[in-house]
Amino acid sequence: MARKKIALIGAGNIGGELANMLVSKQLGDVVLFDIPQKENFAKGKALDLEQASALSGSDSRVTGSSNWADCAGADVLIITAGIPRKPGQSRDDLVATNLPIIRSVADNAKKYCPNAFSIVVSNPLDAMVYEFQRRTGFASAKVAGMAGALDSARYQLFLAREAGVSVKDVRALVLGGHGDDMVPISSATTINGVPVDRLIAKDKLDAIIARTRGGGGEIVSLMGTSAYYAPAAGAIAMAEAYLLDQKRLMACAALLDGQYGYRDLYLGVPVIVGAGGIEKIVDISLTADEKAALEKSASSVRKVVEVVKNAAQ
Ligand code: LAC
Repeated sequence: MARKKIALIGAGNIGGELANMLVSKQLGDVVLFDIPQKENFAKGKALDLEQASALSGSDSRVTGSSNWADCAGADVLIITAGIPRKPGQSRDDLVATNLPIIRSVADNAKKYCPNAFSIVVSNPLDAMVYEFQRRTGFASAKVAGMAGALDSARYQLFLAREAGVSVKDVRALVLGGHGDDMVPISSATTINGVPVDRLIAKDKLDAIIARTRGGGGEIVSLMGTSAYYAPAAGAIAMAEAYLLDQKRLMACAALLDGQYGYRDLYLGVPVIVGAGGIEKIVDISLTADEKAALEKSASSVRKVVEVVKNAAQ
């Protein structure tokens, strides 16, 4: 049986780390794609990764390319193309630069990778994944946005450190848009089944929620550019769930069609990811406060989506 093919659109920091994880997990052969001006950079990264596999013993192949034909027939497409944030910028500030990029990626994806499970990582996430799905016309089950996995991971880490427990024992969901008003769902947060509020005091929990909401920005202000290890790990968790049909319940940006009271909007919600892509959107009941917070987050996402809808095609 042929190995699976994973096309990474964008050979920047996240793209490189994605390729590294895919090779070490031997999830398939990797095409590291970037624009012609960065083709040699992509080829160099690919070669470096293949040389590392001589030491790690991975048989996955990595190729660098600026030719969409090399991505043809990909099983998974992970899109990180676009400009990352600089200090002082919000994710929404990126819409003008990243919208034309995501549209061009969508047109090529439609032509060359019609059967892929597409995972969008580019920011502003919820609006970019909305536009990608709208423009390709791909089934919504096959187009997901990576944000909830990352935001939940950040929340889980801070909770684990505060409670003094292993990160493995923290279960948490962060829903809503990938912005400063994302919604950590405390009613669904436990430490190996123990409700979080029994182990962490309210003031500490509030501080952790605030830090989670600003989690991406904290790293941008430290590094001068966006995070990449954790964003890559979030997208890999989704790709792995699809490729290995794991049926994982995780937070992803999914196109809502009535769930949580929203329609025609990509928003972070709990979903089940398996061989069918987003096999199910899980509509859990939320507290009144959580509902209000989700509404605030959804209206922020809607504003950016309106900008995208009104931008000349
Ligand atoms: C972050 C970027 C990837 O949250 O949105 O780090």
